[in-house]
Amino acid sequence: MNLKNNVINGDSPELMEVLRASDLVAATDVAVLITGETGTGKDLLAQRIHSTSRRQDKPFITVNCASLPESLAESLLFGHLQGAFTGANSQRKGFIAEADGGTLLLDEIAEMPAAVQAKLLRFLESGEYQPLGTVDARHANVRLIAATNCRLLDAVEAGKFRHDLYFRLSVVPLELPPLRNRTGDLAQLLIVLSKKLSREHGLQAPGFTPAAIRWMEKYSWPGNIRELRNFIERMMILFNGGEIDVSNLPVEMKPRSPSRAADLFSLPAEGVDLESLEIGLMNQALDISNGNKSRAARLLGLTRDTFLYRLKKYAL
Ligand SMILES: Nc1ncnc2c1ncn2[C@@H]1O[C@H](COP(=O)(O)OP(=O)(O)OP(=O)(O)O)[C@@H](O)[C@H]1O
Ligand SMILES: [Mg+2]
Repeated sequence: MNLKNNVINGDSPELMEVLRASDLVAATDVAVLITGETGTGKDLLAQRIHSTSRRQDKPFITVNCASLPESLAESLLFGHLQGAFTGANSQRKGFIAEADGGTLLLDEIAEMPAAVQAKLLRFLESGEYQPLGTVDARHANVRLIAATNCRLLDAVEAGKFRHDLYFRLSVVPLELPPLRNRTGDLAQLLIVLSKKLSREHGLQAPGFTPAAIRWMEKYSWPGNIRELRNFIERMMILFNGGEIDVSNLPVEMKPRSPSRAADLFSLPAEGVDLESLEIGLMNQALDISNGNKSRAARLLGLTRDTFLYRLKKYAL
């Protein structure tokens, strides 16, 4: 697999921590569970684990569990013999056998049909599986990587996902942080992805004013790096080579107008103590962000430095 097309850009400490753990895992054969919001690079990370492992020259197969029809899931994964069931006109190798020696990515693992979960657990524990229509067990040497953008434990608690399978898969959980929590990655990704996309499209990379970048850093990026990539693509097409300022940003990223501020807070007739209001808001921001100062700063529309300065000022 060619790693060059699958580079994971960014050098934030939050991302580096995950990449370090993924390199340690890549050297082993254990199952891996990759979690993270949509667009955070779970597919990319799975490819990187495969490409940096001893299995790199062997197959890398991806299966989207949400698209496995319940009635066919078992035969698609484990294969079947001719005549194993009505309509099985020929023998079929399953994804497990296809991935033998390599890596199998089970994407959207929470959607894995219940009937198959026990068989998958058996395979994880013993490397054995049974194609439909056979009596004897077969053996395959496959590293499993499971990925999900939901909390798999929720599916366990809802009775949709087996507890034992969850524990077996989550021996090494890797959680990709959302873009809004990666310190410094946005500015770097803007440059790197702009260059990459400009080569792809034969268009000039857009420039961004410092003010525009500040607003983009405050935006929550629910679609994460995929959304950032699409956004750069759109800006490139609309402003080929131009400089993008705050006024060119889509409405969801734009600064809130003063009238919006008045909607959010209205000054009581008796006035407020601005200093204690500020301290209260800073404490709330720290609570919401679980003590992550960069995120707390963003919640208040401040740079990290300004936020740190005020924390010190109030001795918080
Ligand atoms: N760190 C990164 N550097 C460069 N490109 C990235 C990075 N992370 C993600 N991308 C790109 O963003 C897009 C989405 O990544 P990917 O498909 O791996 O996300 P995902 O977490 O699997 O999303 P989903 O949950 O929707 O399946 C891809 O085009 C990928 O190449
Ligand atoms: Mg994915």
